[in-house]
Amino acid sequence: MQARVETALEHFLPSGSHLPARLHEAMRFAVLGGGKRVRPLLAFAAGEATGADAARLAVVAAAVELIHAYSLVHDDMPCMDDDVLRRGRPTVHVAYDEATALLVGDALQSLAFELLAGHGAARDAAAQLDMVRTLATAAGSRGMAGGQAIDLDSVGKQLSMPELELMHIQKTGALIRAAVRLGAQAGEPIAPERFERLDHYAKCVGLAFQVVDDVLDAEASTAALGKTAGKDAAQGKPTYVSILGLPRSKELAEELRREAHAAIADFGPSAARLSGLADFIVLRNF
Ligand code: IPE
Ligand code: IPE
Ligand code: MG
Ligand code: MG
Ligand code: MG
Repeated sequence: MQARVETALEHFLPSGSHLPARLHEAMRFAVLGGGKRVRPLLAFAAGEATGADAARLAVVAAAVELIHAYSLVHDDMPCMDDDVLRRGRPTVHVAYDEATALLVGDALQSLAFELLAGHGAARDAAAQLDMVRTLATAAGSRGMAGGQAIDLDSVGKQLSMPELELMHIQKTGALIRAAVRLGAQAGEPIAPERFERLDHYAKCVGLAFQVVDDVLDAEASTAALGKTAGKDAAQGKPTYVSILGLPRSKELAEELRREAHAAIADFGPSAARLSGLADFIVLRNF
């Protein structure tokens, strides 16, 4: 499955020899050669649960990962988290320059929507429009970008639990939820009640993902993470760890893992990959 994701990304990204070559090279640098690919893997896994066609899933999975990669490029810029290391390599603004990093993010976002709107990503035009809207909402001010705004605005502040949860749900949960929804929508129509269950699974793993990211920032090494460890505390970011402490954060991730499994319990073998990904998201150490 991982190989399918890599092939799709490689296929959809413009060649580094096409003009403007430096921008295209930087886009490829940002996306290829690293990353856990959790969001595209979730899209593939959700599509498997609804009998989606592999070619369609490749489009959906690539679109979601391109949005994610763009969010990382901008997240690392000096005006945001000011990070120099990502996926074990220099960040885009370090390897290239700030203006290029800004444009890489812009162009990756546009490419994501070009893919989702242009290829046979859905069974009909209405479903495709719905998918475009799903991704747009997840990436926008009520999703990832909004969560990032809250994150930046919260530096040095003590957030309440509901505020912290909202920030995490938006900055990370929204795109993960979209990955599952889009993967599922690429397949056969399913009963609303089953779709709700998949969506509940996605909300649980989406929140768990950022809780674990906060835990790893505090506990794991820079070498294991491929990004600078200990940055949240150093930058005064409110996180699950700073507000709940490490033991309670880990318990919460575990509770969310159990809830995710319960949500898809009656899907049977078609949800085996979704189950495995819930485990990976919570039990990972990088
Ligand atoms: C890091 O995401 C940023 C967050 C949303 C927490 P990932 O941990 O998925 O990063 P990659 O894609 O594996 O590098
Ligand atoms: C970033 O959260 C979430 C995004 C939308 C990119 P973090 O700032 O915690 O991500 P890392 O730890 O730098 O990967
Ligand atoms: Mg950040
Ligand atoms: Mg960051
Ligand atoms: Mg982090």
